[in-house]
Amino acid sequence: MTDLVTEHFRPDDAGTQRAAAILRSGGLVAFPTETVYGLGADACNDLAVARVFEAKGRPRFNPLIVHVPDFDAARSYGSFGPAAERLAQAFWPGPLTLVVPTVRGAPLSELVTAGLASVAVRVPEHPLARDLLTVAARPVAAPSANPSGRVSPTTAKHVADGLNGRIDAILDGGACPVGLESTIVGFEGGVARLLRPGGLPIEAIEACIGSLLPPAVNNEGAITAPGQLASHYAPDAPLRLGATEMRDGEVFLGFGPVAGTLSLSPAGDLLEAAANLYAHLRTLDDMGAAAGIAVAPIPEIGLGRAINDRLRRAAAPRT
Ligand code: TXA
Ligand code: MG
Repeated sequence: MTDLVTEHFRPDDAGTQRAAAILRSGGLVAFPTETVYGLGADACNDLAVARVFEAKGRPRFNPLIVHVPDFDAARSYGSFGPAAERLAQAFWPGPLTLVVPTVRGAPLSELVTAGLASVAVRVPEHPLARDLLTVAARPVAAPSANPSGRVSPTTAKHVADGLNGRIDAILDGGACPVGLESTIVGFEGGVARLLRPGGLPIEAIEACIGSLLPPAVNNEGAITAPGQLASHYAPDAPLRLGATEMRDGEVFLGFGPVAGTLSLSPAGDLLEAAANLYAHLRTLDDMGAAAGIAVAPIPEIGLGRAINDRLRRAAAPRT
């Protein structure tokens, strides 16, 4: 891809206006959401969406989430049954993505849905994301703003480190408060199923629907969101999970009573841990420890389930 000059915009009206204008003219803009930074493109513009895949080096078969300002806009692209509408009303705006049947004739680029009959839709809560979507007045297709397979960005600097010169602009809104990608829920026969654990705890969804949220699995028992590759969210260094002590040549990511080189949360708070996860992985990775990164055990409850999902993928054998 030709080298672009990536513009950096401040989180004010002028910055939002310029970012929206770039989106409307088919450009790529990284913008903050409450979960992670997204790499946005006009979801109706084939060429713009194709540029997202090229900038990220992303496999073409992996579909993208469409970001819209409110539920009314979501309904122009996705067909929401009662279960989907209930979750949308309860948790939007917020860190939840719903995969629903695509509305027939919706003007979305085929690349966004990767030929599937369903579309992933999300209404983000971050005020800058909401302003940008409103001013752009376009549905915005946005994967996380990182080179494919790598750690997702939670600051504008993370975005620039991975994509400077490959995208048109970055709207800098500081650090993302949640720090983990959205929870993704799909529906089969009207029944909600988990496609990806994320920033909205599974327990909150279960409380809303009044039943357990079973994972959507394929024949190999793997989660079926097509982009959920086993190795993903990966730093350069190898990871050793569930570690209670540091071995020679390692750096150590702590949690709670396990202090580590850096701690996700000394108090053992999972919200704080989620917000710190990707930034701390990058910092430890940059230390270049010969034996890699050891990671303290994280409890498998609430956001801990999403944190452990990301850590397992970061630790998985690389392809
Ligand atoms: O928090 C987030 O969700 C962030 C911010 C930017 O919104 N976005 C994000 O996008 O994490 P991405 O592209 O990194 O992950 C989207 C996931 C992929 O695993 C993809 O396969 C899945 O959503 N997905 C998208 N459309 C789908 C569909 N129609 N059916 C099943 N899975 C879908
Ligand atoms: Mg991603």
